Amino acid sequence: MARGFFFTFEGIDGCGKSTQLTRVAERLRESGTACVVTREPGGAPISEKIRELLISPCSSQMRPETELLLYLSARAQHVREVVKPAIDRGETVLCDRFEQATFAYQGHGRGLDIDVLRDVNAFATGGISPDITFVFDIPVTLSQERLNQIGKGKDRMESAGVQFFERVRKGYLEAAEKNPQKIKLLDGARDMDVLTGEILGVIEQYCS
Ligand code: TMP
Repeated sequence: MARGFFFTFEGIDGCGKSTQLTRVAERLRESGTACVVTREPGGAPISEKIRELLISPCSSQMRPETELLLYLSARAQHVREVVKPAIDRGETVLCDRFEQATFAYQGHGRGLDIDVLRDVNAFATGGISPDITFVFDIPVTLSQERLNQIGKGKDRMESAGVQFFERVRKGYLEAAEKNPQKIKLLDGARDMDVLTGEILGVIEQYCS
């Protein structure tokens, strides 16, 4: 059986990636594609427990190194329990965040060494890497507006300052610039239908 495809959706908090992922999954299922929709951190029971620890405002004392290893522990479990089995079954996996979030948030945002991140990430994933990553770019001011509008209290990551998110955004932009074949940069402030169509176009082209 042919292996399935693996697509990931990324960007700073409030960029609209999760909405787009849901819309794309609906459209793919309507056209008969078997899809697994999942997320990071999380996506498997143990990884969801790690997620709670990571985003809880009670974890304010968490150090960057601890944060990194927890994201990667969650990923190691998620990849082996959910992502790889689905790919092996020939299903399409749509994942809300994956390794580019680690490079952008823990690398550019927290300032951890990117080469170290690449090595430990490779250990965590066992070499599983997305076919295509969609990065939804929005200005940090818009991200902050959207997060304030949602009305719920911000989680630990969302509470990081504007400077932090500027660095994370820059990290995503640099990654897309360096690897445009695999990392597709999209304007997250554009019309939702246009964006969904664009993503489906890229997926269709890649899978055909
Ligand atoms: P979410 O709000 O998109 O579900 O993601 C939760 C937070 O986790 C978000 O602020 C980004 C952050 N994150 C990292 O810092 N590193 C990672 O590797 C991942 C997967 C997420």
